[in-house]
Amino acid sequence: MLKNPRLQSLSGRFPKRPRIIAHRGASGLVPENTLTAFVLAAEQGADMVELDLRLSKDGHLVVLHDASLERTTNGRGFVHEHTLAELQQLDAGYAFTLDGGATFPFRGLRLRIPTLEEVIASIPQHLGINTEIKSAPWDPADRQRGQVIAEKLVALVRRHPDLRERLLVSSFDAAVLDTVRHLEPELPLGLCTMPIAPLPEQLRTTVERGYEAFHPTDIGFDEHGTAVVQSAHLAGLLVNVWTIDSPERAVELAALGIDGIITDYPEATRKAIDRALGSFTARR
Ligand code: G3P
Ligand code: MG
Repeated sequence: MLKNPRLQSLSGRFPKRPRIIAHRGASGLVPENTLTAFVLAAEQGADMVELDLRLSKDGHLVVLHDASLERTTNGRGFVHEHTLAELQQLDAGYAFTLDGGATFPFRGLRLRIPTLEEVIASIPQHLGINTEIKSAPWDPADRQRGQVIAEKLVALVRRHPDLRERLLVSSFDAAVLDTVRHLEPELPLGLCTMPIAPLPEQLRTTVERGYEAFHPTDIGFDEHGTAVVQSAHLAGLLVNVWTIDSPERAVELAALGIDGIITDYPEATRKAIDRALGSFTARR
């Protein structure tokens, strides 16, 4: 059992295997960060969904990964230059393809950019939610929006106290995590990192800042993986690794003892881990 009380509700539910955290929903199969993706993730047995938070021009928390609209929708320009009403006119399934652009099976099916509240209302209450606050530390204006997102997320939690048991707040920007900690000290926080510094150094930062979870990428994870997982657990932290789309790799990471697997394919990942755990149990 982890000693950090902020993690009890998150860790106590999944004592036997790593949590399956659906990255932008079941985004390997359907358009990312849409209600369709989050509902499918729940149906596929995910324990938690990961979603990306951005701010609309009129101050709503919207769920979209990129700062701009072009990659995933039929819109143009930056998210923060559009009101929620304008954003919700767009087709969030416009660019999704499974065959390299030969077909776009979700175009015109009225998939929209959801608000965070719409996601919460659409998924089962047992599902955890990893809300990743998008904030670019090198861009003061984007960082300012990240701070506003942090404040609005806290306000949402205060309106819906039941969310306290389900939420993990993550970001690449420690400043926005510190804002959440200051405003709502009981919410668990996770620092996302890129492979630009040694893993042990990034873990040390995460421990020193008092966060509850470390979210490294899998790139270069093996070099320090075992030691990092052990050190993180000794310090009472969870280790959730992204983005793991190979079931075989997910099983390897599960064997290392990581706590969460952030994946675009929750069902395939869950089945592979359950199979591996089943055969392990059978051998004992
Ligand atoms: O939260 C882990 C992962 O989502 C971070 O990267 O770019 O997919 O948001 P990204
Ligand atoms: Mg993300």
